[in-house]
Amino acid sequence: MSNKKIGYIWSNNLIKECNRIPCVKFRSSYVHELIKSYNLLNFIKIIESKLANLSDLRLFHSSDYLDQLKKIQLNYYEENDIQGDENDLEYGLGYDCSPIERIWDLSITIAGGTLEGIKSILSGDCDVVINWNGGWHHAERDEAKGFCFINDIAIGIQKLREKFQRVFYIDLDVHHGDGVENAFACTKRVFTLSFHQYENGFFPGTGSIKDCGFGPGLGYAANFPYCENISGLLYVKYFKIVTQLIKDKYKPDVCVIQCGGDVIAGDKLGNANLIPNDLGCCIDEIMLWNLPTIFLGGGGYNIQNTAKYWTYLTSKIIKQEISNDIPDHPYFLEYGPDYDLSVQRKNIKDLNLEKNLQENVRIITENLIKYSVCDIYSILLFYLFI
Ligand code: FE2
Repeated sequence: MSNKKIGYIWSNNLIKECNRIPCVKFRSSYVHELIKSYNLLNFIKIIESKLANLSDLRLFHSSDYLDQLKKIQLNYYEENDIQGDENDLEYGLGYDCSPIERIWDLSITIAGGTLEGIKSILSGDCDVVINWNGGWHHAERDEAKGFCFINDIAIGIQKLREKFQRVFYIDLDVHHGDGVENAFACTKRVFTLSFHQYENGFFPGTGSIKDCGFGPGLGYAANFPYCENISGLLYVKYFKIVTQLIKDKYKPDVCVIQCGGDVIAGDKLGNANLIPNDLGCCIDEIMLWNLPTIFLGGGGYNIQNTAKYWTYLTSKIIKQEISNDIPDHPYFLEYGPDYDLSVQRKNIKDLNLEKNLQENVRIITENLIKYSVCDIYSILLFYLFI
């Protein structure tokens, strides 16, 4: 068992509200019930999720955008009309982010969950916090995007900055962590690193290897794009190289890790060929750093696989081995016919060439030197020892 103080964000309301998110209906219950069925909650401090307030949301989002969310909720009560007004689309509230009933309530619930986790890190009550209901990385300051109405990550990082000088954000979702990167592109105090599928037509279309921040934050963002069907062999290898490199040079005080479940094989939207064990190796690496860390959820559109993945990660974080035989619980029958916690890898060729991934590392390294995140001698030392 881990000797770290580990917190797990939960409340009945958090589960009930997150079960309503249209793209991942009932996922919140699937995840929580599976974790509970393995008795993993016995090893974690449960932190009750609370609601965020307006000033919390204003840590990142614009007043105009938040007014629009409130207006949509009010219209629903007064006129039973789910739409706000003609401004909805201007704020991204359409297409994949169509307004839903009690959109404001959902937003303050999601942000409130992540904020409670951040507060327990700030107070020292916990060294590590898990909030699988957080991780909505696409929302912009004044725009909903990619199923995300509220960017709980950007709000949480803003709160973390009250105490910590250097925040390392790592985004493992199969989609680029655009909203978080954009939020902190102009500051040195947050280093954002996103690993993601990057191909023509693949959402959101940003996160090229060349993008590395703006203005005073130039050099303090990095992207590691890959092609479809990336295998665990390559992913874990390059994850370790790149994260170790940045961690050693940036010297963060705290880490925020987005663990979107759409990176797992069999996702409806993602095309990576990774299994929970691969990402478990990555999480092991992060845990070795012994830094205060917040693990968040994100995408994950194969509900069963995402529940398996986050349950497995929870067991890794608390260092409890669990059986592959899924225990009886309310969603047990959804895991048939094998009722096995493991996820099968696709029998398909990895389209990534190692030389392209090496080129990613070269460019990221070059940027770290070019923008003075570190000097060339410390980089040479790093390569000498890996
Ligand atoms: Fe995603």
